[in-house]
Amino acid sequence: MTDDVLVVHGGTPLSGQIRVRGAKNLVSKAMVAALLGDEPSRLFDVPRIRDVEVVRGLLELHGVKVTDGAEDGELVFDPANVESASTDEINVHAGSSRIPILFCGPLLHRLGHAFIPDLGGCHIGPRPIDFHIQALRQFGAVVDKAPEGMHLTAPTGLHGTKFELPYPSVGATEQVLLTAVLAEGVTELRNAAVEPEIIDLICVLQKMGAIIKVHTDRVIEIQGVPRLGGYTHRPIPDRIEAASWAAAALATGGRVEVLGAEQADMMTFLNVFRSVGGAYEVTDTRPPRQGSPGQEGGIRFWHPGGELRAVALETDVHPGFMTDWQQPLVVALTQARGLSIVHETVYEQRLGYTEALNKMGATIQVYRDCLGGTPCRFGRRNFKHSAVIAGPSKLHAADLVIPDLRAGFSHLIAALAAEGTSRVYGVDLINRGYEDFEAKLAALGAHVERP
Ligand code: EPU
Repeated sequence: MTDDVLVVHGGTPLSGQIRVRGAKNLVSKAMVAALLGDEPSRLFDVPRIRDVEVVRGLLELHGVKVTDGAEDGELVFDPANVESASTDEINVHAGSSRIPILFCGPLLHRLGHAFIPDLGGCHIGPRPIDFHIQALRQFGAVVDKAPEGMHLTAPTGLHGTKFELPYPSVGATEQVLLTAVLAEGVTELRNAAVEPEIIDLICVLQKMGAIIKVHTDRVIEIQGVPRLGGYTHRPIPDRIEAASWAAAALATGGRVEVLGAEQADMMTFLNVFRSVGGAYEVTDTRPPRQGSPGQEGGIRFWHPGGELRAVALETDVHPGFMTDWQQPLVVALTQARGLSIVHETVYEQRLGYTEALNKMGATIQVYRDCLGGTPCRFGRRNFKHSAVIAGPSKLHAADLVIPDLRAGFSHLIAALAAEGTSRVYGVDLINRGYEDFEAKLAALGAHVERP
């Protein structure tokens, strides 16, 4: 057991207001994009989370000057002196995040070679990078896998290509975008992911001078350009964090207003939240006028009283129900009357955390079958990727060890909803994706302490 533990006295509804900043899964990619320009870029609303630190460290190693801007959360990137970094220096970041894989295209364009350390990220399945490597090879990159990481060169430059993804992978779509924008000629990507974070990355690249068309049916066409400038960008808010706090409000019988949350990016979540019996209200931003200071909008989520209802849901690529919304919501589903069904179709091993919930009194059974409308890639491959949650169950305190980021937050919610005092080990993992989560918990009246 580690010292990294939070003592949670559960049973108090969360109540109050918190704010989410730029989406982790956009901010980190926009930071990589800054490497492609020959002018400075400016990014607002950057959360203080571990993934941002890792990308900042890698950018700085490659000669990008990163400075804090005037506004809280503003970062300025100056890529005027991009340079090679040594394998040893880069390897300091080995195992810390999955974002380094996205440095391939930008470094090949800027330096003609790249070294990518071993990736980290959450242990939610094998998480292969075969699509990334296939795409990079089609652009003309030579990829050598070595024990210490991956070496890439582009002896004849990078050239536009036609590529069809076997599955609409978020990371592989970003890899193609970040490589194609400066590649010579046209790239056509089929079966692309079209998550709001990807559309926002396209906005960033377009601001830098890229030409990118998003067609219907998951086709993205990129016309390579010879140079890119900088960007000034305020990212979309973190819809995963917003949904996590919404689920915490519901599971603890509380009321949480998430400032900055954006309705349009969360429609699928909001529909499920309402079907379960949760209530929400969208509050619009009011610009300041003479005599009135204005007000930041967001979404207020609460448990309206009475019983929650069981639901059946399947995680899917956008516009489906996000896989990252699943774990926090399942905690609330333990409080719903009846049998809820969750079919996880994005990752093959993202239900392991339910064991901890069972230890706390939940009744969750996981299955290898596809318990959803459509069979998915995992049904025939013997993965426990469907769950049936029988509720309502009274949760009681337990000692928990956090396995990964989103499951970790769900453990935390379960401990907050449970009667008694839980010890949650490994909470620092939550800092990878949730800015100031301990301060936010305190602001919402949670009784938590570091021993
Ligand atoms: N896949 C492959 N081969 C590849 C790439 C992906 O088989 O080369 C598979 C994966 O194994 C998985 C599926 O495709 O089964 C989808 O993976 P994807 O590439 O879309 O995920 P990712 O880019 O690695 C991002 C987010 C995840 C989020 C997923 C899905 C970041 C840094 N991570 O991961 O977020 O769950 O998209 O929306 O953007 C998190 O924030 O906690 C998190 C895990």
